[in-house]
Amino acid sequence: MNEWNAKSWRHKPIKQHPTYKNQQLLESVESQLKSYPPLVFAGEARALKAQLAKACAGEAFLLQGGDCAESFSQFNAINIRDLFKVIIQMGAILTFGASCPIIKVGRIAGQFAKPRSNDTESDGTLELPSYRGDMINAMAFTPEAREHDPNRMLQAYHQSAATLNLLRAFAQGGFADLNQVHQWNLSFVKDNAFGQKYEELASRITQALDFMKACGIDSNNLPTLRETDFYTSHEALVLHYEEQLCRQDSLTNEWYDCSAHMLWIGERTRGLNEAHIEFLRGVKNPVGVKIGPNATKEEIMGICDILNPHNERGRLNLIVRMGSDKIKQNFPKLLESINTEGREILWSCDPMHGNTIKASNGYKTRLFDRVLDEVKSFFEIHKACGSYAGGVHLEMTGANVTECIGGSQAITEEGLACNYNTQCDPRLNATQAIEMAFLIADMIKNR
Ligand code: PEP
Ligand code: CO
Repeated sequence: MNEWNAKSWRHKPIKQHPTYKNQQLLESVESQLKSYPPLVFAGEARALKAQLAKACAGEAFLLQGGDCAESFSQFNAINIRDLFKVIIQMGAILTFGASCPIIKVGRIAGQFAKPRSNDTESDGTLELPSYRGDMINAMAFTPEAREHDPNRMLQAYHQSAATLNLLRAFAQGGFADLNQVHQWNLSFVKDNAFGQKYEELASRITQALDFMKACGIDSNNLPTLRETDFYTSHEALVLHYEEQLCRQDSLTNEWYDCSAHMLWIGERTRGLNEAHIEFLRGVKNPVGVKIGPNATKEEIMGICDILNPHNERGRLNLIVRMGSDKIKQNFPKLLESINTEGREILWSCDPMHGNTIKASNGYKTRLFDRVLDEVKSFFEIHKACGSYAGGVHLEMTGANVTECIGGSQAITEEGLACNYNTQCDPRLNATQAIEMAFLIADMIKNR
């Protein structure tokens, strides 16, 4: 294989990438990004990799979640706080319910670029380039808005920096102290049956903490009770951005993509000889690759060979997103054949992207039961094949949106209109996410 460097992706065919008209502006943005501080440190990415290695061996579980696409216009502290709350709440449910360490990774602080099924969208007679996420263009249906603008990479960087700053404060500044476990329940979740169930679980955690305190162990002398590890991730789609955030670690001389702790490659851009695989092969962060219903054993072996040549545990996460029917048809045979190869793979389940449908009233949505069904199948298939279901990858928000149908709130097709707010794909709302966590806790326990 040829020498890797942060620019070597430029010699490969590339899909789903922005096309900028103004090359001079692009170059000026690139050199600014290159001069900016890294958003994460290499040491943090290594710590995450060590955690993921445990998940690989069935000793921990990956919980990855957040918006399909972050947006510039909905950027505020409340949205960040509420997503953080729901994720640590889910973490508590899963840790307590399954007695298993949970690795928390947000789809946040960089999740601004979207692959699209169609290059263009039409409205009557007007055909315009598709919206590709706020890092690339804007959602408004005008030619100006849909133009690919390099300056958006700078805005994405600054928003990511501010988001990460708040997340670090939440994770380490006392908000995530287990003694606050009751405070994480969002007011609109509390009234729901699963919000109630959470209150009961939180009371049991509080009881356990009181007991430990009486024994002399509390968050003053045990920092792990006071803080949590919260990592960031996004799809490494816009390589102009990712390249500029590559930094050589001074301790190891290895290259890391310091835009996030973990990066993944989407289903549409994982061609073995293409730019996205080329880029991620050279950085040492943990990396994910989406695996759709038509993936073959040869493709997956190729991904392992290129992205994880030393078969390192915790380096490679394959994120299966086949859909609730296709996973049953296609995954068992595929998994069985891959399991014989002795590759270190952290398998996680994205039950969102294979289950997107259009409701009769036009909303893009997902059925809670289909999402749940895909997760269930994922666990069952792993159990039958003797490997571990190692994580879930969810599109979710801490807001009280109505984007997915069903769950204990029984959101209906008509109900979608109440608060349908996503920039791209439909997300589980906080209540649906909490419900999902309780159901997944049982699956982990039975793994
Ligand atoms: C996504 O995760 O938002 C996404 C576009 O996924 P996929 O590449 O699996 O379609
Ligand atoms: Co999505």
